[in-house]
Amino acid sequence: MYFPTYRPRRLRQSEALRSLVRETELSVKDLVYPLFVIHGQKIKNEILSMPGQYQLSLDNLDKEIEEIVSLGIPAVLLFGLPETKDEAATEAYAEDGIVQEAILAIKKLAPELLVITDVCLCEYMSHGHCGVIKDGEVLNDLTLELLAKTALSHAQAGADIVAPSDMMDGRVAAIRAQLDESGFVNTPIMAYSAKYASSFYGPFREAADSTPAFGDRRSYQMDPPNAMEALREVAMDIEEGADIVMVKPALSYLDVIAAVRSEFDYPLAAYNVSGEYSIIKAAAEKGWIDERAVTTEVLTSIKRAGADIILTYHAKDAARWLKEGNCLCP
Ligand code: PBG
Repeated sequence: MYFPTYRPRRLRQSEALRSLVRETELSVKDLVYPLFVIHGQKIKNEILSMPGQYQLSLDNLDKEIEEIVSLGIPAVLLFGLPETKDEAATEAYAEDGIVQEAILAIKKLAPELLVITDVCLCEYMSHGHCGVIKDGEVLNDLTLELLAKTALSHAQAGADIVAPSDMMDGRVAAIRAQLDESGFVNTPIMAYSAKYASSFYGPFREAADSTPAFGDRRSYQMDPPNAMEALREVAMDIEEGADIVMVKPALSYLDVIAAVRSEFDYPLAAYNVSGEYSIIKAAAEKGWIDERAVTTEVLTSIKRAGADIILTYHAKDAARWLKEGNCLCP
């Protein structure tokens, strides 16, 4: 009877053996936790479509930040809900804008915690699009100016990294030039380079109140069937000065993460987006899946595909589980 000399099961006999040869290890140091900040006081609105996630007013940040720091999560990603929206996204780059004030507050509470800011206009525009609109069209080059202003105002407030998520052409170059001109040569840019026009952003748009009032984002975000185009987007952002590149969403785009990983030697982030989170939460609430095991498997798969950094709403839960011991067992 024929037996192979190599038996893959030999190395699977015990947890000690399995962990000795394990290729991918999730770490809390890989995780970035998104936060939604809002004007007002004593506000902690649970986001209905994202159980466990909240819109927080600044006076409620202290407990949240303390928890994030004590869990060892190295960075947060800020999204803001403005007081007023208009057609020039004025609050996006206002000195007393919600994100600018949140940066100051967080830096006071925890100077070591990295503050990454999402640079986009959609939450601040009355029409909910990521750029300036004229005759129903999103104008690329006019938008760049506002994005650069926004990124600069975040850097001035103390942001450690700015992360443009708008998908306008040339925005990394515009932001880099503006930051450099103003003396922020050391502020890194994390570019949402391959950001797809995805239906998985649905719950986020409730959280950030950023649903476009008309049309959709397909004239600027990428067409989901395209992978080679993602490599062009990443190459372009690197050429324009991106320090970290990103693929978003993560799970339906693991092939894109892997392709970018093999093609470029830049730090690579992946955004495990709202819909991906909500699906797990909903199934877990129904008792259909084991939340901890499924979440750990999902986050590990994103890292295995090649991401160095994972932006995820699961960050606090994952950090807690990792502290208890990295259990990959179902
Ligand atoms: C802003 C932005 C979006 C997300 C991050 N930044 C929404 C969008 O592009 O419509 C999505 C995040 C998520 O779904 O978790 N442009």
